Amino acid sequence: MNARQLAQQHLAPTSFAPTGLHIVRASGSYLYEVSGKQLLDLIGGISVCNVGHSHPRVIEAIQQQAAQFLHVMVYGEVVQTPQASYAATLAAHLPPSLDCIFFTTSGAEAVEGAIKLSRRVTGRPGIIGARRSYHGATTGALALMGDEYWKGPFRPLLPGVRQYAYGSQELMNAIDADTACVVLEPVQAEAGINGPFPEWMQAVAQRCRETGTLLVLDEIQTGFGRTGTLWAFEQLGIVPDILMLGKALGGGMPMGAFVASQVLMHQLADNPVLGHLTTFGGHPVCCAAGEAAFRVLLEEDIVPTVFRKEALFREWLQHPAIREVRSIGLLMAVQLDSAEAVQQCLQKCAAAGLFSDWFLFAADCIRIAPPLTISESEIREACRLLCRCL
Ligand SMILES: Cc1ncc(COP(=O)(O)O)c(C=O)c1O
Repeated sequence: MNARQLAQQHLAPTSFAPTGLHIVRASGSYLYEVSGKQLLDLIGGISVCNVGHSHPRVIEAIQQQAAQFLHVMVYGEVVQTPQASYAATLAAHLPPSLDCIFFTTSGAEAVEGAIKLSRRVTGRPGIIGARRSYHGATTGALALMGDEYWKGPFRPLLPGVRQYAYGSQELMNAIDADTACVVLEPVQAEAGINGPFPEWMQAVAQRCRETGTLLVLDEIQTGFGRTGTLWAFEQLGIVPDILMLGKALGGGMPMGAFVASQVLMHQLADNPVLGHLTTFGGHPVCCAAGEAAFRVLLEEDIVPTVFRKEALFREWLQHPAIREVRSIGLLMAVQLDSAEAVQQCLQKCAAAGLFSDWFLFAADCIRIAPPLTISESEIREACRLLCRCL
């Protein structure tokens, strides 16, 4: 049996319509199928591969760390240079109030940690989120999932969660003295790019301050230059109390993090001691890879190119079937007439050598979130292929 047949027989499916592509290599902006066919990658592993696939400095960092040690002890109990070094590097590029980092193994686990920290610090039960949000698939994060279709079958979920429309006065009014935290994305990614609404976000932050509520921002998809600034919150004029990171954080390795001030974070180590735990969070190889990718992002001046690349996509994506293009940096949604039109187009794209996807809450949109290193000629080729498939 070949790998595709083995996968069909023994791997749990997430849907009954997977792409069926069998990728054996990836480099820069391209994926390579077992047949040798290449695909221009417009989604970068869902906003993970911001510095391109298999960047040599990331691979070298992984190899060097793997040759030294892999797992030695559960998180937090021994000093591991890659963890300490990456935490310090991240903190140096965050506001002073976000100087303490808890590394996890995934984005969803960062969400769980942030929820726990909020409840521990405030002693309050309430959590407010937005409809059409995606924060992960574990049961706590799922309670914040934006729509009943996706979470209904798994109820009962975390109690105390209330959701309102993103950008609404209703959400703001709901923040009160029982609210531990408000959990929001800086821009709703899976809603097919909804926002950003800087004034609304500033008003939410103000309401949080007035009520002693923590503002928790999910930059798992928007962080690391995706939206044109290193962090999307820079474009919103706010600083969250807790920041959640993931995806590009690990440079292609599995990683998440929640970040807060030392004053907040130290409370997770007390009453109870070991308030949050993980065996593999901050794995040394993931930290080494993540820090290498972060340094590439900064040293190769990749983030300042993002707005120009966004403009090129917008200029070259011209077709009568496109209803609207919504974007913030290289996080873009191309709206068509229907979900069927999107699926047809995606299939044609894959056949033509272009890899893209849709959005959980916007099935009538094509996702464009390529590696941020995508070149201008690759953008032109992507737009040409996409328009041809439309
Ligand atoms: C905004 C956002 N938050 C959280 C998550 C969950 O991250 P993970 O899949 O690493 O658990 C995702 C994943 O797509 C996401 O897009």
